Amino acid sequence: MSMEFELRAGVDNYAVMGNPVGHSLSPRIHHAFADQTGELLYYQSILVELDGFAAALARFQERGGRGLNITVPFKQEAWTAVDVRTDRAGQAGAVNTVWFGEDRRRHGDTTDGTGLVRDLQRHSVGLAGRRVLILGAGGAVRGVLGELLKQRPAALCIANRTRSKAETLIRAFPTQVDTQALGFDELPAAGAFDVIINAIPAGLTTELPDLPPDLLADDGCCYDMVYGADNTPFVAWGKEHGARLALDGLGMLVEQAAESFYIWRGVRPETEPVIDMLRNSKQ
Ligand code: ATR
Repeated sequence: MSMEFELRAGVDNYAVMGNPVGHSLSPRIHHAFADQTGELLYYQSILVELDGFAAALARFQERGGRGLNITVPFKQEAWTAVDVRTDRAGQAGAVNTVWFGEDRRRHGDTTDGTGLVRDLQRHSVGLAGRRVLILGAGGAVRGVLGELLKQRPAALCIANRTRSKAETLIRAFPTQVDTQALGFDELPAAGAFDVIINAIPAGLTTELPDLPPDLLADDGCCYDMVYGADNTPFVAWGKEHGARLALDGLGMLVEQAAESFYIWRGVRPETEPVIDMLRNSKQ
């Protein structure tokens, strides 16, 4: 595994750093944004060794790179490695977007929460006044929780296999919203939810926990932060249990990328055509 990479001459260079990163859709998304907006840039994915993030970041900056997306497992390390953080990144404890100031200071933001909320809004799924349940309490939830709470749901519960991690997360985000941590065994008594957001990476190796059949309110919506070529297990669960909408996280991926693009270029790309393009090319 090599962390060698070259920047392209004559254009502004961007990249996503992660491990693994080979299947990242980010280069396609950002090149589609660039075509659409007429911005001249080159965006590559860079596989970084697990102990090599700080060195890769420094090298990218030294060579004149303009900005980075950071993905698993480096988002927390990126938070430490930047000099200036936006408020939302500060609270999330994770950075997924990096850019460099003229004084060479590194700036960090996290656009995942905004990406999730925008994708929900695009589908007319409002959270204000609704009962919201999140499944999982890992890094993915920490990255979006602040933005979800800002939407002022009536209640926000986090259910996790390890209940104490849900409690820790809730304590880290002081809010007026009625919040609650739950173990999966407490879900049957928790009532029905208008919106259920899954952040457990269920798929090939991980199974979705058993969910009570009446967990979703009538007309409720399911959103899976995971995305996949076919129905994800949680999207399938939503469809089986009468969800008005059961969405995977492809839209969130494109929306968070659009927010990064806007931070870097000052131009807001249209997301819908890019989501459609990816959706169609997956089939
Ligand atoms: P991410 O950055 O994707 O959130 P993470 O921080 O490793 O990844 O968190 C993974 C989440 O999936 C956690 O909520 C984890 O539950 P625990 O906190 O109890 O570990 C959850 N998860 C992973 N495998 C699981 C499984 N087999 N059943 C239920 N939950 C699981």
